Amino acid sequence: MYQVGILTLSDKGSCGEREDESGPLLAEMVSAIANVVRYQVIGDDQEEIVLLLKEWVDDLHLDFILTTGGTGLSPRDVTPQATASVLDYQISGMAEAMRASSLTKTPRAMLSRALVGVRQQTLIINLPGSPRAARENFEVLLPVIPHALAKLLGDPADCAISEDE
Ligand code: MTE
Repeated sequence: MYQVGILTLSDKGSCGEREDESGPLLAEMVSAIANVVRYQVIGDDQEEIVLLLKEWVDDLHLDFILTTGGTGLSPRDVTPQATASVLDYQISGMAEAMRASSLTKTPRAMLSRALVGVRQQTLIINLPGSPRAARENFEVLLPVIPHALAKLLGDPADCAISEDE
């Protein structure tokens, strides 16, 4: 089982004005492949997000991190900026795949600036904040995560796709 951290970014959630549904939903979605070793709800504060992401990668060495919320255009949305500042590199194709699939569901999908990338050997995935958007985006990436993590950890095996993939 992988070790995952789930970080919900929500000003309202962090002060108890709104219950976080997306974090628990994501925890349920990853339960077959990962143990949720960190789960936190914090406000849309760029410095705080950066500190937490660095701690979860540099100190805890989590295999992957899911963030939910703060990817849109409102003035308080800073998750992609915070994430970009800690990434060693981005995996644009994973973010593009989420948006391409989401665009078949709503044109508003183009408003999410979610990033996916790597810091050290940890995969960091931004997801939008509503439970529906978080699920619709994450379900695109979930099947590929084990292979992505294996490659990240240096698996030299050939990437040929077998009949059942
Ligand atoms: N993607 C999917 N699949 N389904 C959705 O309902 N909502 C969009 C978009 N991505 C949506 C989606 C909307 S309305 C916004 S504003 C952006 O995600 C950013 O959401 P966030 O600010 O909660 O991160």
